[in-house]
Amino acid sequence: MEEMETFIAGMPKAELHVHVEGTLEPELKFDLAKRNQLDLPYKSADEMRQAYDFDDLPSFLKIYYEGMSVLLTEQDFYDLTYAYLKKVHGQNVLYAEMFFDPQAHTVRGVSFETVINGIHRAQLDARDAFGIKTQLIMCFLRDMTAESAMEALVQSLAYKDWIVGVGLDSDEAGNPPLKFKEVFEAAREHGYLLTMHCDVDQKGSVANIWQTLNDIKTDRIDHGVNALEDQVLCDEIIKRNLTLTVCPISNGYVTPSKKTAEIKAMLTRGMKVTVNSDDPAYFPGYMTENLIATQQEANLTKDQVVQLVKNAFDGSWQQAEEIEAMTSKLSAYVAQ
Ligand code: HPA
Ligand code: ZN
Repeated sequence: MEEMETFIAGMPKAELHVHVEGTLEPELKFDLAKRNQLDLPYKSADEMRQAYDFDDLPSFLKIYYEGMSVLLTEQDFYDLTYAYLKKVHGQNVLYAEMFFDPQAHTVRGVSFETVINGIHRAQLDARDAFGIKTQLIMCFLRDMTAESAMEALVQSLAYKDWIVGVGLDSDEAGNPPLKFKEVFEAAREHGYLLTMHCDVDQKGSVANIWQTLNDIKTDRIDHGVNALEDQVLCDEIIKRNLTLTVCPISNGYVTPSKKTAEIKAMLTRGMKVTVNSDDPAYFPGYMTENLIATQQEANLTKDQVVQLVKNAFDGSWQQAEEIEAMTSKLSAYVAQ
């Protein structure tokens, strides 16, 4: 490996944008299908991988939701989560904030309780086994109704201590932030932090980012690359100290570009941009691969790579002492 790649691989890291259901690798999908006595329309994990054919958000989401059909029991959610945490511990990820999509499971008859108990137990066991710290963010599916999102919010309240915040994902087309204004207000009142996908190159991306700021008043922005098209918007994002969780390899699959020049531009402009993996089992690349792809394509300096990781610790929803402790580990690594 080149020196820069070795440096990136060894860095202590944080991940702020990963959908736990998007970490379901074909091999595990096969194992779970077998355990649950389900037939998959593929002969092998490789054949399944080759059938992954998407070039935009809707075509990806179709395959992503189909893939979830094998997740039925608490143990399935445990195995899914544990496998991801074990994998990224191997990449020196110290901290991960994971999205989960309860509505994608409750519509299939899998209870909220089943989903969250499995994920939570894996979080505890991974903490014990690897020292990796994690928090959960519940996402509402924006192509479902606001009423359905409100139901998910109500269901979540019994597990409030296990969930740090709420987000919004799935298909953005025709589903602007304002559709969920009441739900997000209610979530805020219940003490959740707020974030929201501002997916890349959507129709009305810039207007939707403005809504995210002015109508929802989120604490963070997921993706948000198109903010660069509006300098006043960039200034406002900086003023509010909002972290952006960009996912370059993912962007390269659902748009014509990995948007690494945009990541560099955000860094240069002083925006708190971070690099993340999104759905690493579908957009191949975990944290290390995403950082390496960004560094190589945009020709980032070592300082810029370090800044990306610093931004992630800084923008994480942890206590100040935890952020300081993790940032010190990063500084020590850079110094040695
Ligand atoms: N965008 C929107 N919804 C999603 C994504 C994404 O990248 N991944 C999983 N659900
Ligand atoms: Zn995402």
